[in-house]
Amino acid sequence: MHTFTVLGIETSCDETAAAVVRGMPPGPGEILSNSLFSQTEAHAPYGGVVPEIASRAHLEILDGVIEKALAEAHIALEKIDAIAATAGPGLIGGVMVGLTTAKALALGAGKPLIAVNHLAGHALTARLTDGVDFPFLLLLVSGGHCQLLAVEGPENFRLYGTTQDDAAGEAFDKVAKLLGLAYPGGPNVEKAAKGGNAKRYALPRPLLGRDGADFSFSGLKTAMRQLVQSGAVDVNDACASFQAAVIDILRDRTGNALALFQRDFPAIATPTLVVAGGVAANLAIGSALTELAENHDFQIRIPPPRLCTDNAVMIAWAGLERLAGGVSDPISIGPRARWPLDSRL
Ligand code: KG4
Ligand code: ZN
Repeated sequence: MHTFTVLGIETSCDETAAAVVRGMPPGPGEILSNSLFSQTEAHAPYGGVVPEIASRAHLEILDGVIEKALAEAHIALEKIDAIAATAGPGLIGGVMVGLTTAKALALGAGKPLIAVNHLAGHALTARLTDGVDFPFLLLLVSGGHCQLLAVEGPENFRLYGTTQDDAAGEAFDKVAKLLGLAYPGGPNVEKAAKGGNAKRYALPRPLLGRDGADFSFSGLKTAMRQLVQSGAVDVNDACASFQAAVIDILRDRTGNALALFQRDFPAIATPTLVVAGGVAANLAIGSALTELAENHDFQIRIPPPRLCTDNAVMIAWAGLERLAGGVSDPISIGPRARWPLDSRL
């Protein structure tokens, strides 16, 4: 069978990453290399990503990260079919570094350039790992986004709901900071929650029971701040209570989206719920959503944690999907700080 081999580059936040992926839609695909340098340590003293530090670090290490990806894949640039890079949404300085490097490589090697939407990368990962067919329902939960969408094609998304304020990952990170846990907060809150009593603190669950599939986390965040300010809190119990509230919110909102998806695609015998983005690495959230999906006769696919958090494998695969559809981008294409998946928005 004919396959494509694509080099992917990701620089939209604090991971500098390059990867080589081979395959053909609908997948699964083969990961030939996955080179990733996390800038976590550089940003940790500030409790969050500092854009200027991020773009400088991307600039300094990206070339080496790309060389490593090609070397580990045992492939020369000449044998690559296309160069894909994140062109947004994200921190504009970092996106510019990755996209400009991709343009230089594409021009130099005479290869097509593919400008990838970072969110499409997260969205399409389950095709690389499991060959999930279109359309499927996607819960995209990351540091910057919290959305429910129907994914109908590599560039065809229908938005069911989004957050009215914070993203789920952002809420995890802010709560971690409040409780004095190290950045990035998500994994540390999950760890602390394991030893805690989730019923210890009563916390709000915004929008629970309402129609639609929108999210809100700011009320929960405020309640956590008040809890911490009120005096001695048990960190484990606070994390467990917070995580339980997030799980209730995600379960309720996703439950509504399952119904919306079935209304829109009644002919699909076994519909699939895909959970993607950094927060999908949370195992407690994963098991709650697995139960929800099973109760509604959906199958569920959650990529492994290293492919849920930011990486270049997903960018290479999203590029490969567009290449296979005969699409590439002009060298003049620019970076975009904002780039919604649903083009009707
Ligand atoms: O997708 P991602 O790597 O970057 C963005 O595109 O935003 O997501 C990062 C987010 C961070 O907010 C991080 O705290 C969260 O995902 N995260 C988690 C876990 N691992 C990462 N949140 C909860 N539990 C986790 N285990
Ligand atoms: Zn991401």
